Amino acid sequence: MEATVGIIGGTGVYDASVLEDVKQEPILTDYGEVVIQFGTYQGKRVAFLARHGVGHTLPPHLINYRANIQALKQVGVQKIIATAAVGSLNEELRPGQFILIDQFIDFTKSRASTFYEGGEQGVVHVDMTTPYCTALTAELKGVASKAKVDIGVGGTYVCTEGPRFETPAEIKMYAQLGGNLVGMTSVPEVVLAREAQMCYATVAMVTNYAAGISQSPLTHKEVVETMDSNREKFKKFIMEAISSITEERPCSCSKAIDELGKF
Ligand code: HPA
Repeated sequence: MEATVGIIGGTGVYDASVLEDVKQEPILTDYGEVVIQFGTYQGKRVAFLARHGVGHTLPPHLINYRANIQALKQVGVQKIIATAAVGSLNEELRPGQFILIDQFIDFTKSRASTFYEGGEQGVVHVDMTTPYCTALTAELKGVASKAKVDIGVGGTYVCTEGPRFETPAEIKMYAQLGGNLVGMTSVPEVVLAREAQMCYATVAMVTNYAAGISQSPLTHKEVVETMDSNREKFKKFIMEAISSITEERPCSCSKAIDELGKF
């Protein structure tokens, strides 16, 4: 089965229930098997992938990011809309708020973060000046205006290794470094998507104030509860995105390696 638009559902977004005619298919990649749900919305074919597995069984550091991105590539996906639950590093970014992120700071430690491991695959130093596709992000901004969904554009996502939450001292440091949001999964997903020459954008939902900004201990339950109470709004946005997104790619994502990075 094929689809040109892919959705990677993060915490709280586990199934393709917004789609019609959903069919599940295992896709075999060089890195292992990935289950993709294919469906249709308003005549558009979509490939849906639950980042943490359908029952949230995979912690962030054990997600097979390479298999996920390669599987989407193999089935023809050119544009990926990823969702992410994030903690907020400042009081102005409130739980429930949606943000299209545009930069990241990488604090991960132990993840395979490239398709190019030398040897036959070669060596690639992929450009990350605009890690999230600006054209797809602009399309999503347009979708939000049309659907009257309030969404912020631009935010720096600090990616931690997890699976633990952060200490208040770490959060203070991340804020001083210029971070606005914190999560555990955008890296290496966004990097691999660019290496695979796909357009990739992330709509983040603030689910909690990060450690130390929130005075109470953080729980996964709090994250999921905020997701749950904003789910309908999130769904509406994603559905609108599926029906509005074009096949046009006025960006350079499709040439990220050919022209810029391959050695
Ligand atoms: N920290 C890291 N990841 C997260 C958080 C957080 O506070 N909230 C949702 N994902």
